[in-house]
Amino acid sequence: MYRRFAPVVGKGVNQGVAPVTYGTGDRPPRGNYASARADYTCEQDWARYTAADHDTYRRLYTRQLQQLPGRACDEFIAAVQQLGTPDRIPRFDEVSERLLKATGWQIVGVPGLIPEEAFFALLAARKFPVTDWIRQPEEFDYVVEPDVFHDLFGHVPLLFDPVFADYMQAYGAGGLKASRLDACELLARLYWYTVEFGLIATPQGLRAYGAGILSSAGELPYSVHSPEPQRVAFGLQRLMRSRYRIDTFQATYFVIDSFQQLFDATAPDFTPVYAEVRARIERDGEVEAGQALPGERLFSVC
Ligand code: PHE
Ligand code: FE
Repeated sequence: MYRRFAPVVGKGVNQGVAPVTYGTGDRPPRGNYASARADYTCEQDWARYTAADHDTYRRLYTRQLQQLPGRACDEFIAAVQQLGTPDRIPRFDEVSERLLKATGWQIVGVPGLIPEEAFFALLAARKFPVTDWIRQPEEFDYVVEPDVFHDLFGHVPLLFDPVFADYMQAYGAGGLKASRLDACELLARLYWYTVEFGLIATPQGLRAYGAGILSSAGELPYSVHSPEPQRVAFGLQRLMRSRYRIDTFQATYFVIDSFQQLFDATAPDFTPVYAEVRARIERDGEVEAGQALPGERLFSVC
């Protein structure tokens, strides 16, 4: 299984070192931050990857690719080949070139998790940070921090979709604003339940578009077909009230109808939204992962 990263801000041992965007781990993040620039990006030192690194990538990619039909959304399946040959870790420059032509996005190398504001600033500039290192063979099914496989395979294909690409940029801009409003925790839930763990309803059935699902061998079939988890129709305020799990498969997934719906629902100014959500939490509490609310529309799987 592939563990995910909770956008929990500022707490934990890494405080001061800065790269604490995600996770409440008790050890410093991996990665060579000494080589990073002021915006936390770094060169992808492609020559440094070993044959074993490329082999890990190839095996992860191959396993995941065969799982996609019937589980991943069409936009993802159509674009995944843009990553290039599965035989070796892609060169970021080559993927960027194709991405730039398609949607004006680029990918940039980073040593690992980066501070929230740096992350938001990159997204707002249509630059997606991709971790440069790959997991060790013994971490094949489970890696604590995002690595190049999660970041590239999970996130980059949908950046080829024009509407999703615009959503990601808007999220970055919204993040910079949320930082000023001290609302990053609420906004992080949106990232979690859409960009990382989102499901989309299609005429053929539910499909995954979240990167945390799409890069996980275990959670991809589970999220789309298991009768266990809740699947709730996307609602912005419902989502922002909802806690999430970082160390097991999700107990709740939010389902969108289209990327356009997601874009439109998140386009309005969040300043009053944050205030309303805070007031509602104050009154009724947060919604626990897996908890259903009275009368809400749930999706069933067959
Ligand atoms: N509309 C949001 C705001 O004003 C910004 C945003 C857009 C956030 C898309 C997330 C996703 O804060
Ligand atoms: Fe991710």
